[in-house]
Amino acid sequence: MIKHLRSAADLDAATATLILDTAAEMAALSGREVKKLPALRGRTVVNLFYEDSTRTRISFEAAAKRLSADVINFSAKGSSVSKGESLKDTALTLQAMGADAVVIRHSASGAPHRLSNWVDGSVVNAGDGTHEHPTQALLDAYTMRSRLGRLDGLKVAVVGDVLHSRVARSNVLLLSTLGAEVTLVGPPTLIPVDIVAALSKTARVSYDLDSVLPDSDVVMMLRVQTERMQDSYFPSAREYSRRYGLDVTRMRKLPEHAIVMHPGPMNRGMEIAPEVADSPRSTIVEQVANGVSVRMAVLYLLLGGK
Ligand code: NCD
Repeated sequence: MIKHLRSAADLDAATATLILDTAAEMAALSGREVKKLPALRGRTVVNLFYEDSTRTRISFEAAAKRLSADVINFSAKGSSVSKGESLKDTALTLQAMGADAVVIRHSASGAPHRLSNWVDGSVVNAGDGTHEHPTQALLDAYTMRSRLGRLDGLKVAVVGDVLHSRVARSNVLLLSTLGAEVTLVGPPTLIPVDIVAALSKTARVSYDLDSVLPDSDVVMMLRVQTERMQDSYFPSAREYSRRYGLDVTRMRKLPEHAIVMHPGPMNRGMEIAPEVADSPRSTIVEQVANGVSVRMAVLYLLLGGK
């Protein structure tokens, strides 16, 4: 088993499949009245969140607690980080406390890599800048596999703000490892040529959503990340939705069996219409539930579970 999960590229097909299979076992547990396993009793998991998060933070906390680990939640607000303490000094503090695993979300791409040089425990990337978010890709893959029965040969359209999306990057890497075919869809400003070049071996690119939908098993809508945009990438929100938003009319172009995904948080009415987000095809709430099982599997396996 690998020691750290910093990138979806850390996972080969066998390891990724082991995580998904273990997550399925963990999911069986969440149906029971007593949801706790003693697997990580006496181990310490630190959640180190430098960037805002709802789902991911709660999900990692629930996952560690269900495995009986001691959980320390650290958020940059209200800590010495607001006094200017560096990531390295924070890491040394965690090291002194004997953290067995550190789950980190940071606005700087590469922060989990740096952290893994400073602590002895396992490092799990919970989202670093615009770089990667490997556990999101794992929970997305898990959701696809449980809804559609397979990943190999599955056609997945990842739609929208690819440029700023760590979710898209991790999904492209993981899904191609697991045999799915990814097509990135969005305006050319949000899928610039360097991304196309970097991902050309693992994903296709289209600028026309309507032509991609009829041949997709999965459509994954990405949030338009205005907080990361210094320039204007499209004329207006209305224009964006008109071309790249998923509304009910567009959803009808999908094959009968296809599912609609979104990592959350959503801009309802922008990249996804409320009726689509709340439709039976949408797996958005399921993705959140699956996130806990997948993160339990990741913590369990990284910390030496068999
Ligand atoms: C994503 C993230 O933070 O990268 N959300 C998540 O973890 N569920 C996607 C986003 O912010 O749009």
